[in-house]
Amino acid sequence: MTPIELFRNEHHSCLMFTDLIDDDGQAVQANQFVVVDNGVGALIDPGGNLAFNELFLALSRWFPARELRWLLASHADPDIIASLDRWLTSTKASLVISRVWERFVPHFTKVGKTDDRVIGVPDAGGRLPLGKSELWLLPAHFLHSEGNFHFYDPVSKILFTGDLGVSLMGGAEARIPVTQLAGHIPKMEGFHRRYMVSNKILRLWVRMARQLEVRMLVPQHGAPIEGRRAITDFYDWVETLMCGVDLFDDRAYQLPTARIDAQTGRTQPVLRVA
Ligand SMILES: [Fe+2]
Ligand SMILES: [Fe+2]
Repeated sequence: MTPIELFRNEHHSCLMFTDLIDDDGQAVQANQFVVVDNGVGALIDPGGNLAFNELFLALSRWFPARELRWLLASHADPDIIASLDRWLTSTKASLVISRVWERFVPHFTKVGKTDDRVIGVPDAGGRLPLGKSELWLLPAHFLHSEGNFHFYDPVSKILFTGDLGVSLMGGAEARIPVTQLAGHIPKMEGFHRRYMVSNKILRLWVRMARQLEVRMLVPQHGAPIEGRRAITDFYDWVETLMCGVDLFDDRAYQLPTARIDAQTGRTQPVLRVA
């Protein structure tokens, strides 16, 4: 339950929480992050309702949660922002999210809760003030969500990549940064092939990301990827990865014949007698 300090100096710190959801296999492991600069805080991808109580308590030990300025959501999935109603109640923070999702997020809250508390970010992104520093909202659309941002912290040189770079593992394993990519790829591959939209988008993203000095690439599920070598290997890997629409063709769009068993939920192929 102790957060990991990804970075700290006199004025600036980055914390990562990896194990606020039970490892019972029901809900996917997820990380939440707090960046604080000169006493002003931003919570990155706060998570769903499963994480709220634990995160609020754990965070309060490090930073007065009521003083949070920003809730940053890379996209609008339930594991990112389903807890929005409770964060808006418990803090004075505003939600920062893609303009694509701005008018959808009020569905997560009680009526009127989001009034004047949502900043809809245009596709080009921007630099958001945080204390005496800023967080960069980098375009990451279609990785995997249609309106998607990554967050770059120029002080710690950490790039928070949401669902890109994700590896599937438990909360304890997610605490240990990966410094050699090769052995890590099997934990990432299946997810990226299905959840990322296309190789074109990956290549465009890599071209942008290579211009940044990145010390650590930190996804919303699984372990951080640390050091120039592993990060370069990650760029090289995703740049050549076929995924999403690259892999779907007419065979994936046939009228279904398999039956879903109401008791077990399992799909049973229907045997055709010739
Ligand atoms: Fe997602
Ligand atoms: Fe996610």
